[in-house]
Amino acid sequence: MILVGVDGSRASLEAVSWAVQEARLRREGLRVVHVTLAWPLEMAEDSPHADVGRWMRDGAEAILNGALERIREEGGDVEVASALLPGDPRQALTEAAADAELLVVGSHGLGGFRGMLLGSVALGVSGHAACPVAVIRRTPTQPRGEVVVGVDGSPAGAQAVAFAFAEASARGAALHAVHAWSRPIVGGGPFALADAEESAQRERRMLAEALAGWSERYPDVKVVERLEYGHPVDVLREISAEADLLVVGSRGRGDLAGVVLGSVSHSLLHHAACPAVVTPSPATGRS
Ligand SMILES: Nc1ncnc2c1ncn2[C@@H]1O[C@H](COP(=O)(O)OP(=O)(O)OP(=O)(O)O)[C@@H](O)[C@H]1O
Ligand SMILES: [Mg+2]
Repeated sequence: MILVGVDGSRASLEAVSWAVQEARLRREGLRVVHVTLAWPLEMAEDSPHADVGRWMRDGAEAILNGALERIREEGGDVEVASALLPGDPRQALTEAAADAELLVVGSHGLGGFRGMLLGSVALGVSGHAACPVAVIRRTPTQPRGEVVVGVDGSPAGAQAVAFAFAEASARGAALHAVHAWSRPIVGGGPFALADAEESAQRERRMLAEALAGWSERYPDVKVVERLEYGHPVDVLREISAEADLLVVGSRGRGDLAGVVLGSVSHSLLHHAACPAVVTPSPATGRS
């Protein structure tokens, strides 16, 4: 099942449209959830503030209905369920995603202020949910036939590679497996050059190893291995402008204890030029 969170914002309706396509691609059911305060959902009909509570509940139901309307507009035969859940949106969505294949949210919601690049709910569920999280922004109007995955050789990166192959296969898209690297330049001259060449070869081997076995599993997917010199955020942001989907792991090689989202994933959620998926790290995820 694919879970999508809605809050009545335009961004969350875009997330709904994306989630419908995704559910169709993967032949999964779709569950639409809006999280709201607990008391209007749980109050007794004769409670002193019942009219305010009913008004709030009606508002919450209108948000769900707006999402269901969008799903109807998108057409196609996707099995749909919807629910109002009580509590904090980050926590309730994370819990509801426990048995989901994918959690989909918009990059923004109703709150926030102009110029803010990522809402607190979108950030709060990324890396916390046990399943991959898709943060939807700037959905391409026409498919570009390209899925991009950031590869760094870490265990979380391996989950990203697995997800990206499955996506590329389902979409009939090419998979660009990108490893960005850079190294401090010490001194100069022929020794430094030879050294740089050796580093590049090492990084290239790492990239090939991270992809090993996957092409046999997905022979239909055309893989483009890309070793790019530069900071991973700059490199992946630029490449994401040409892609349908960017996939990154929640954490990289700089595996700080207690950190749920690595700095590259964190920055890319803010700056990606297309929808982005963060896959859970092996410690958070189910597999
Ligand atoms: N109450 C909610 N119930 C379900 N999904 C939600 C809810 N609030 C937000 N979302 C999901 O998260 C996405 C991002 O919204 P978020 O709340 O993070 O941004 P924001 O409202 O712009 O900023 P903030 O709430 O931090 O001020 C929404 O597009 C929607 O998919
Ligand atoms: Mg919000």
